[in-house]
Amino acid sequence: MEPLIFEKSSPGHRGMQLPAPGVPEAGMDDLLIGVELRPTPPRLPEVAESQVVRHYTRLSQLNHSVDLGFYPLGSCTMKYNPKVNDEVAGLTGFADLHPYQVESEIQGILELMWELERALVSITGMHSATLQPAAGAHGELAGILMIKAFHAEHGGALRDTVIVPDSAHGTNLATAAMAGYKVVEIASSARGLIDLEALKARLSDKTAALMLTNPNTLGLFEEDILEISRLVHESGALCYYDGANLNAIMGKARPGDMGMDVVHINLHKTFSTPHGGGGPGAGPVAVCPALEPYLPAPLVRRDPQTGMFYFDHERSQSIGRVKGFYGNVGVLIRAYAYILSMGGPGLTRATEDAVLNANYLRVRLREVYQVPYDRTCMHEFVMSASGQAKRGGTARDIAKRILDFGMHAPTIYFPLIVPEALMVEPTETEDIGTLDAFVEVMQRIDKELDETPELVTHAPCSTPVRRPDEVRAARDPVLRWRAQDARPPAQSSSVAPR
Ligand SMILES: Cc1ncc(COP(=O)(O)O)c(C=O)c1O
Repeated sequence: MEPLIFEKSSPGHRGMQLPAPGVPEAGMDDLLIGVELRPTPPRLPEVAESQVVRHYTRLSQLNHSVDLGFYPLGSCTMKYNPKVNDEVAGLTGFADLHPYQVESEIQGILELMWELERALVSITGMHSATLQPAAGAHGELAGILMIKAFHAEHGGALRDTVIVPDSAHGTNLATAAMAGYKVVEIASSARGLIDLEALKARLSDKTAALMLTNPNTLGLFEEDILEISRLVHESGALCYYDGANLNAIMGKARPGDMGMDVVHINLHKTFSTPHGGGGPGAGPVAVCPALEPYLPAPLVRRDPQTGMFYFDHERSQSIGRVKGFYGNVGVLIRAYAYILSMGGPGLTRATEDAVLNANYLRVRLREVYQVPYDRTCMHEFVMSASGQAKRGGTARDIAKRILDFGMHAPTIYFPLIVPEALMVEPTETEDIGTLDAFVEVMQRIDKELDETPELVTHAPCSTPVRRPDEVRAARDPVLRWRAQDARPPAQSSSVAPR
């Protein structure tokens, strides 16, 4: 295992040594009036430049990533994102901007944001959008707060409940609760879809909204979506559409045409920013005309006379700002570049390929792993390892074993309605060779359970960390180095077997 950089420290080692100054040294006392200087220097690691470079390069190789191999992490859309979009986001004209610059100096980025909003509105079939939220869950909160503001101004202040199907993404329930709503969960039908009778029974003059994820977390499209939105509106409530799975429908169907009032989109899933790893994301929210007044301020507008772009802060009904400055602009630039480079036909093709790949794996794997809702899926599907668990290998064991083959595991134990769930999302960017390799791995693991079960139950055996104590890691994480914990300095970790 790679030691910490502190453990590599040796007194006197330096990354860089500056020559002696050719002018008399001047103290900083004049500059630091009123500043109390620390009595001792900070305990920074003392290491040579080469050690630093090797250390961080090795660290970067300890993790699995999309750039390294297959990553079928259901619900997360870990697809390959073209590097050209990173290049575009790094162009000096974008990267050197400062959010306090005056509008006349930042016309380019304002135009980009204005056009991106239009593109997202067109893809979702909605009326207008905010680009501010920094993540999907953040967009959900902004969307639900807009619904709340709408009800408050339209005689619905007593509507205090949000209905969430049990196949919705977990953030939907959390969002509704954070916005102060009671959450009512409805069970799915035997087909894994919203049960219309259960929905009707729950809708009332107390309902503020239905929050649904479509395709849902089983990877299934809500076939009764038009009837669902009709019923919800009939009861005076609004429809919230979790559009984080837009990569399954873009170019084919639009939430706006399904009668949805609010949609959030995860740019970091569908539109070319790597998802996962905690990096910056963006969760724009698109709304129907009735909710436009409540969009977070400011919005980017274009003056029809001058053609100049500007921020519109004069929005008296707005729920207010939800993010510092204008959101995660780098993610917006990547999304814009992705949309332009793909074009309409390209985005549609991406959807088709995502759905094709998921169905290919579903059909090939169902011979070995049970697929509880076994019918044409969208971009992902859920298998159950219940049969394997009876033979001694749980979904967790199987997921751990997959890592030994240089692939990431599917999402496990989610959605909760499938026991021993393995949620597989291959994405559109994988070719048939990779999909077949995954099938072979999954078949082999199933076989191993009969022949060499310890390979599965003790996996992984080839990763830098094997099975950490997950509860301790979450409850009692060690997040900083302390001198008293120091191990003897490692001479050179590169000679140690890894
Ligand atoms: C369907 C769905 N909804 C909501 C979210 C939440 O998005 P975020 O992780 O950006 O908050 C995700 C995340 O992947 C998702 O897949």
